[in-house]
Amino acid sequence: MAAPGGTGPIGPFPPGVDTEEAREAYDKMRRRLLWTMPSGLYVVGSRSGEQRNLMTLNWATQVSFEPKLLGIGVEKTALTHKLISESGVFTLCTISREDRAIVRKFTKPVEYDPDQGTLNGFPFREARTGAPILDRAVGWFDCEVRTPVDCGGHTFFIGEIVDCGFSAPEDTPVLRMEDTRMSYGG
Ligand SMILES: Cc1cc2nc3c(=O)[nH]c(=O)nc-3n(C[C@H](O)[C@H](O)[C@H](O)COP(=O)(O)O)c2cc1C
Repeated sequence: MAAPGGTGPIGPFPPGVDTEEAREAYDKMRRRLLWTMPSGLYVVGSRSGEQRNLMTLNWATQVSFEPKLLGIGVEKTALTHKLISESGVFTLCTISREDRAIVRKFTKPVEYDPDQGTLNGFPFREARTGAPILDRAVGWFDCEVRTPVDCGGHTFFIGEIVDCGFSAPEDTPVLRMEDTRMSYGG
């Protein structure tokens, strides 16, 4: 992006940050600052044909009132990215705070057991779009991708909510990043 007055590009480093050490220190500070951004912690369901996946994700937010749109940032190397790109659908599940251990179960492609109807041993059901919804979700959104936004290492999939609901009492406290000692991003 051009600086006001057309004096050249702005960033990624501010003025004065021009040595290797200064850039490294700035980079570390920027990462720590990004980690302080409050966020939720979710499980994303994806499916293409008979391949299904569940993935832990914290980069999620509502992006529009009308239509009701949600966006999720998904790493291009993830299986979830492939499945959403192929099918154009995903689910987003909120998780109970009591269930925080569950997020560790979905950080790599899951094992599907068609006989038991489980993913990594967790029972699920199919949303209208066909993507999986964890039975243990507190609430869930079923989304159809409207706009995939290329963001470099990630794609920000913006999806319209085509169905949603609660699977647990509405006042169940839901999991946030701050409830764990994990970090993602930065
Ligand atoms: C706490 C936490 C938050 C995460 N948030 C995201 C996220 O927002 N986006 C993302 O692409 N991966 C995120 N990940 C990484 C994914 O869960 C997963 O490890 C990776 O993307 C591979 O997923 P796959 O099973 O689809 O291949 C997060 C992992 C952890 C532990």
